[in-house]
Amino acid sequence: MKVTIVGAGNVGATCAQRIAEADIADVALIDIAEGLAAGKALDLTQAAPLVGHSRRIVGGEDYTLAEGSDVVVITAGLPRKPGMTRDDLLAANGKIITQIVTELKQTAPEAIYIMVANPLDVTTYIAHQVLGVPRERIMGMAGALDSVRFRAFIALELGCAPADVQAMVLGGHGDSMVPLPRYATAGGMAITELISSSRLDEIVERTRQGGTEIVSHLKTGGAFYAPAAGVAQMVGAIVRDEKRLMPASVLLRGEYGLDGVFVGVPVKLGASGVEEIIELELTEEELSALHDSAEHVRRTVIRWEEMQEA
Ligand code: 2OP
Repeated sequence: MKVTIVGAGNVGATCAQRIAEADIADVALIDIAEGLAAGKALDLTQAAPLVGHSRRIVGGEDYTLAEGSDVVVITAGLPRKPGMTRDDLLAANGKIITQIVTELKQTAPEAIYIMVANPLDVTTYIAHQVLGVPRERIMGMAGALDSVRFRAFIALELGCAPADVQAMVLGGHGDSMVPLPRYATAGGMAITELISSSRLDEIVERTRQGGTEIVSHLKTGGAFYAPAAGVAQMVGAIVRDEKRLMPASVLLRGEYGLDGVFVGVPVKLGASGVEEIIELELTEEELSALHDSAEHVRRTVIRWEEMQEA
């Protein structure tokens, strides 16, 4: 199996490392910055004997490297600086993504696409417009990241093994995301039984601000270890046909009463990409939070379309 990663910055390079070192797939790393992808691919290749995998990792500037890819992950785009929202990246990243997918449409038309650049749900929409692939073959990585942050903060609170915590975050990848405490468990126990509701509210808010908290520490860019872990989980689910259940940003056509918008909902990921969209019975409050979040994404898409007309 072959995975192409576009963008050899922190997120892209860490994705390449995780995917090769977890023996998920061979990797082609592409970046327009001269030498960046080639250098990082070679560095990862040199580490292979010590790490103990046999994955082929190549890198360069040319989009023909993506030929024959089963999965393409697009991490290219600007990260946030302190004080910026993800939506502030719309003009710059919308343009970058359009250029990239226009190239990939020629070299990797059959791939399954995973988008990573912000504003996530909108760049996924833009890529879908250009690529024109069926909705099963394009998704945004956000729910995997937001959920893993939620799980990490719950585990910190309980002082328990992070792997024992299961939790889910729906909605757009932004301040309006919708963590669902009602569906979170630790060791099979409902966390609503283990953590007070006022403390849970704080954990939910910290999850919503999970990326922003890291930007405020790093100052020069955003998170990359957890985002790359989210990407690797999704790529692994697809190339190994694992049928994993996790939230992803997908194009809804009536599910949850939403239509024509990419937003995070639970899906089943396997060899064909998004194999199922799971429709949960949400409370009125949860559903209305999901709709508000989707409305925010929709308004940002309209802003993008207005920019194109101007
Ligand atoms: C984050 O939440 C970069 O949006 C990404 O960290």
